[in-house]
Amino acid sequence: MTYAAITGWGAAMPPSVLSNRDLSTFLDTNDEWITTRTGMKERRVSHVSGIEMAIIAAQRAIAAAGLDGKDIDLIVYGSCSNDEQVPNASSGVQAAIGAKHAASMDINTACTSFLYSLSTATAMIRTGVVKNALVIGVEIISPFMDWDNRNVAVLFGDGCAAVVVQASEREEGVIGEQLGCLADVRHTLRVRGMGTAYCNLDVTAGITSWDFDGQEIFRHAVQGMVQASAAVMKKCGVTPDDIDLVVPHQANLRIIEAVVSRAGVPMDKVMLTVQRYGNMSAATVPVALTEAIEEGRVKPGSLILMPAFGAGLTVCAHLVRWGERTTPLGLSDAAFPPTKLTALEQVNAIRAKKAEGAARSADGMRKARLVETSTK
Ligand code: UT7
Repeated sequence: MTYAAITGWGAAMPPSVLSNRDLSTFLDTNDEWITTRTGMKERRVSHVSGIEMAIIAAQRAIAAAGLDGKDIDLIVYGSCSNDEQVPNASSGVQAAIGAKHAASMDINTACTSFLYSLSTATAMIRTGVVKNALVIGVEIISPFMDWDNRNVAVLFGDGCAAVVVQASEREEGVIGEQLGCLADVRHTLRVRGMGTAYCNLDVTAGITSWDFDGQEIFRHAVQGMVQASAAVMKKCGVTPDDIDLVVPHQANLRIIEAVVSRAGVPMDKVMLTVQRYGNMSAATVPVALTEAIEEGRVKPGSLILMPAFGAGLTVCAHLVRWGERTTPLGLSDAAFPPTKLTALEQVNAIRAKKAEGAARSADGMRKARLVETSTK
């Protein structure tokens, strides 16, 4: 029997920090509301592209696994905020790490993209299609954010992490997962302005607005993650007492507390990053996993539960049996290039560009209507 062990890990967190106070300089919000409703204090804003973040994380993960880029034969790039629609983003990572003979694909299931990608890589390793996979969870949400909407602008952040998954004869890596999608409530979270659906409307690509029913998402997220966690534990014949660590999707501290208490696991077994990084969508689980390893919270043989949810609404829960090694075999010197801009300056630059684009778009539509009227 072949398993798919996680043998390398690496995060790439942008250095620029956006605080609750920064947000309150342009939004009608405050630290007290954000902290009590979400647990969030800070999030990061990236000054480089998603692919560039992914390359840094990939190089760190590959070094930790003691491999070279050319050893990788599959790259799965989990994200819903790709730099471009075409070509696939994974090929950008592939070219940079020199994985000449790798297969490369992008997977978008929103915040669950990393875990769906991990399932895909694990399945391809277990069926003998590939041996060494790089699985990335990356999100660059700041350019797509509707910064004038306080319902969403306070919740999200940019970030990235990657893991290396390798064929193993020992029972380790993902030992079971439950995947699902509550498609009936897909309308509760939608980012308008990012796809072809908006080409013929009064919208310029990139001028995004968010449909976001926070309370509905909250309710379905808790229910979905609790059910998926119970299902995967049952499937694998384990009880909540067997779980050593929970590495959940980090969308809201209250959601995490509700899920783990219903799942029967105490909070001291939960890895939290939501206070420092907010909701980084696909990046939350791999970043939290990487930090848990670095903090010594992952031990040889640890049983790790990873529940998550995202737009769709996709839901899942994975059970991972950790292997023997919890220290990296090598280190990479890959790093972010320096930036002089603060996170707030970057956000204000994005807001200014969007306002300019929106004005241009409105002007273009007005002119188009004038032409239409004058030719009638
Ligand atoms: O990964 C998938 C992403 N989605 C999610 O994670 C969403 C899950 N949902 C949530 O986390 C929560 O529903 C929120 C954090 C989004 C909102 O918390 P809530 O306790 O459900 O608040 P609410 O939506 O009921 O809003 C309460 C009040 C409202 O004012 P009124 O109508 O009571 O006067 C909002 O207008 O809070 C107001 N409000 C804010 N006030 C200050 C909403 N956003 C803000 C804000 N600052 N940023």
